[in-house]
Amino acid sequence: MSNNSAFSETNTYINAVSTLIRGRGLHYLVLTFGCQQNESDSEKIRGMCEAMGYTPSPDGERADLLIVNTCAIREHAEMKALSILGNFKSHKIENPDMIIGVVGCMAAEKDVVARIKRSFSFVSFTAEPASLHKIPELVSNAMINGEKSFLATPDSYDIVEDMPVVRLNKFRAWVSVMYGCNNFCSYCIVPYVRGRERSRDSSAIIKECQELISAGVKEITLLGQNVNSYRSDINFAGLVTRISEIEGDFIIRFMTSHPKDTSDELIRAISTSGGKIAPHFHLPLQSGSDAVLKRMNRTYDLERFMSTVDKLRLAVPDIAITTDIIVGFPGESEEDFSKTLGALRRARFDMVYAFIYSERKGTRSATWEDDVSKEIKTDRMTRLLKLQGEISPERNERFVGQTLKVLVESFDGQEGVYIGHSPHNKQVRFACERVEIGSFVNVLIKSAKNTCLIGTVQV
Ligand code: 5AD
Ligand code: SF4
Repeated sequence: MSNNSAFSETNTYINAVSTLIRGRGLHYLVLTFGCQQNESDSEKIRGMCEAMGYTPSPDGERADLLIVNTCAIREHAEMKALSILGNFKSHKIENPDMIIGVVGCMAAEKDVVARIKRSFSFVSFTAEPASLHKIPELVSNAMINGEKSFLATPDSYDIVEDMPVVRLNKFRAWVSVMYGCNNFCSYCIVPYVRGRERSRDSSAIIKECQELISAGVKEITLLGQNVNSYRSDINFAGLVTRISEIEGDFIIRFMTSHPKDTSDELIRAISTSGGKIAPHFHLPLQSGSDAVLKRMNRTYDLERFMSTVDKLRLAVPDIAITTDIIVGFPGESEEDFSKTLGALRRARFDMVYAFIYSERKGTRSATWEDDVSKEIKTDRMTRLLKLQGEISPERNERFVGQTLKVLVESFDGQEGVYIGHSPHNKQVRFACERVEIGSFVNVLIKSAKNTCLIGTVQV
C-alpha cells in the first residue's frame, strides 16, 4: 500500500456494507460501455464490489447490485446504455432490494442525470468518473435508508490510489497513468466529463507494473485520454523507458496519444527498447483538411502530422500506425473530405477507426450547425471504409514471410485455430497441436487477410 490515504474513507463504507450483506450470497454485475479507460475503471468497480462482499452474477444477468459504467463520446453510446439500463427495470420489480447505479462519463452530464432521475426512477445512484471510489458509500446509503445519491460533480479530482482491482485477464493488464484532458478539441466531451489532466506518481505506476509482471502479466497497456502528455517527476518517454527496464518477458502498449505530444524522445524510447515497447502507435488524425483541423482545435496541420508519421517509420521500421477519423464535422466540404481520403492514401495507416460526427451538448462545435446531411455523412463513411479496405490488407502483406512473436489469447474451437496479437497489434491466427493461452509463441506468417495474419508456429 502507498501512503495515499484517499481510499481509507471508502474502506469504512466497504466494511459497513460487507457487515450488512454477510452470509446473504448477494451478486453483482458491472456492465461497461466505451473505451479502455472505462474497462480499467470497471476492474476497480469490480474490486470494490468484491471487497463489499458481493460475488459475480452467476448468469451475467441477475444481480443484487448492478453498476452500469457509461460512455458519453457519441450519442449512439448513450442511447445504447440507456436502452440496456431500461431492460433492468423488470429485474428491479422482481427484486425490489436490487441496487442499480449509473456511473462513468454520462453520469457527469447534468441533463443526463436529470433524465435518469425523471425517467429511470429505479436507479439508486449515479457517480461521475472521479467519484467512483464513492460507490461503497452510495451503496451503503441505498441499503440503509433507501437514500438516492446523484454525484454529477466530484468533491475533488485528486487521484485515488490503492483501489482494489479485479482483473478479468490474467496476462493482459490495463494501467492508467493519467486522467482527464486539457485539449478541448471542439467536438469532444471528454474534458467536460473527465476534468483536467492529472498524472499518477511514476513510483506508483512502476510498482504496479512490477507487481503485474511478477504475477505473470505479458502485456501492459498504459492508459490515458492523452497518454503521452503524462508528466510527473518524469515525462512519458521516461516512464515507458523505466517500465521497459523491468526484468521479464512482456510488452508495453499505450493509448491514446496526441500528435502534439509525440516527441522525438518518445519515438527514440520505442526504437531503443529492444521490442519491449510495442511497435504500434495509435495517432488520431481526425481530418486531412487543415481548415477542419483548425476548427477542431487539434493544434497541428497535415504536414506536421505526416512528419511525425515519417519519423516513426524511420525510427521503427515496420511500425504499425493506426488512427481515428471523424467524418462529417460541421462545415466539412467535399473538398475537405477528399483531403482526408488523400491523407489516408499518403499515410497508409494499418487501420482506421472512423466515426460519424455526433453533436455533444456543451462542446464548442455544438454551437455550430451540424450541417452535413446524414446521407452525405454515410456516403463519406462508405467511401472512406472502401479506401481503407484496400490499404489495410496491402499493409498486412509486409509481414508475410516474417516470424512474429505472438501473445496467445484464445482458441477458436469452430475453426480449430489459436488467436493472438503480434506486437504490431495485428490479429494472428494459427493452427497447432497445443499452446498455452497467455504465452508467447513465434509464428511464421504465411498469408495476410484484411483484418488478420495467418501463420504456423515455429518451434
Ligand atoms: N463525434 C464523433 N466522434 C468523436 N470522437 C470524439 N468525439 C466525437 C464526436 N463528438 C472520436 C475521435 C476520438 C475517438 C475516441 O472518438 O475520433 O479520437
Ligand atoms: Fe477529446 Fe481531444 Fe482530449 Fe482526445 S485530446 S480526449 S479527442 S479533447
